Amino acid sequence: MQERGKFSNKIGFIAAAAGSAVGLGNIWKFPYETGANGGAAFLLIYLLCAFVICMPIMVAEIAMGRHARLNPYGTFKKLGSRTWGIVGLIGIISGAVILSFYNVVSGWAFGYFLQISFGNLLQEADFSAFFTRYIADVGDNLLYSLAFMVLTAAIVLGGVQKGIERWTKILMPLLIVIMLILIVYGLTLPHAGQGIEFYLVPDMGEVTANTFYMALSQAFFSLSLGMGALITYGSYISDDDHIVNSAALVTITDTLIAFMAGLMIFPLVFSQGIEPGSGPGLVFVSLPGIFEAMGPGIGNIIGGAFFLLLCFAALTSTVSLLEIPVAFITDQYKISRKKAVIGLATLIFLLGLPSMLSQGAVGWLSEFVSYGGKSHDFMTVIIDIFSDIGLPLGGLLISIFVAYRWRMHNFSAEVSKGNPGFPGSRQEKFVSIMLSYVSPLVIFFMLMVIIMEKFFEVDILSYLF
Ligand code: TRP
Repeated sequence: MQERGKFSNKIGFIAAAAGSAVGLGNIWKFPYETGANGGAAFLLIYLLCAFVICMPIMVAEIAMGRHARLNPYGTFKKLGSRTWGIVGLIGIISGAVILSFYNVVSGWAFGYFLQISFGNLLQEADFSAFFTRYIADVGDNLLYSLAFMVLTAAIVLGGVQKGIERWTKILMPLLIVIMLILIVYGLTLPHAGQGIEFYLVPDMGEVTANTFYMALSQAFFSLSLGMGALITYGSYISDDDHIVNSAALVTITDTLIAFMAGLMIFPLVFSQGIEPGSGPGLVFVSLPGIFEAMGPGIGNIIGGAFFLLLCFAALTSTVSLLEIPVAFITDQYKISRKKAVIGLATLIFLLGLPSMLSQGAVGWLSEFVSYGGKSHDFMTVIIDIFSDIGLPLGGLLISIFVAYRWRMHNFSAEVSKGNPGFPGSRQEKFVSIMLSYVSPLVIFFMLMVIIMEKFFEVDILSYLF
């Protein structure tokens, strides 16, 4: 058996876990989900989901991984049974599928970096038309998403600590700085106030079951929870790490950056008269406007720098996504890390092709299936199933597993290793109640409501209330 990787210290783990969490989920997905689901009310529910439902599950994942020192499949099997192992396995497969589309969107960000840096994009008259054309262009997308997967594979090849820790510690602060510049600049634009109002003044009248559900699944996605990424990273940390504090720090960092992304985007959206609910193009369509407003030259530089940093944020996330199946293959089979990385990166890249081609390039993939009264492209279907439904479902199963199979006292003993005050503390009571009762019930209920609504057009809530 080859030696397993390890993070060099506490900060190394926090940097890697925060690097995994902060990515396109914060800057691309969070603003368009917020825009499509009512603005401030969504933000409020999102915060609740992240800190109350998700944070305890993050503690659970890390503790499971550290106790078993294995990938998600091995962890569920070792702490539970062969059947529970299947849950880990499904998580690993979901991770691979998530990476397949995530890599495509990363390619868009990479393309935008080049387009802005070379002065092409900001000359366009209509950024929305440009985006539509851009994502349907096979040549560019193929090249950039391939480049992105190669980079991801190269970093994962270097092993967990060297690649990931170092980059994250330098580039994440830079990303925050440039976002702050854009926030301040954006606030000076006309109608910025309407954007702030939309983002920060809740209108609870807009809230539906769907708002709750999308906030929940967005929190899972953004925190990299629900399919074993943090089981895997947890398996590399040392016994005296304080799991609760680490989880809190990662959750706070991730939430802060998502919150800033909203502050950055909504003033722009309103000052340019873009529809906030316009979907996955929101960031790509609204941001160029601010770079254009800054004037040529400076706009190209700031814009280029922004998209480059976004690519790095995405890269630390794709790395965590690729690491999961790699850990699985190298733990369970006698295959070298190198072979596993190359094989899996190739496979997942190919798996991403239909998503890439479903953005206008190929007709039937772009109108793949109809449900909920709308036709959906292939990538949207994949996001719906593996991310929006798969991750909360994974979180549900992790809660049930820890509370009723691995058992709370074993979980507590593991968490206590780096946190001697944990047993009997209020922290322990809170996490225990959440994992045993609240999270499973809340997530189960929401899953039922949303599956019935989304795929069968049955509104359960209207029968209840
Ligand atoms: N959290 C990342 C983001 O917000 C995406 C991500 C990385 C992820 N690893 C994950 C999502 C594991 C779900 C599961 O961009």
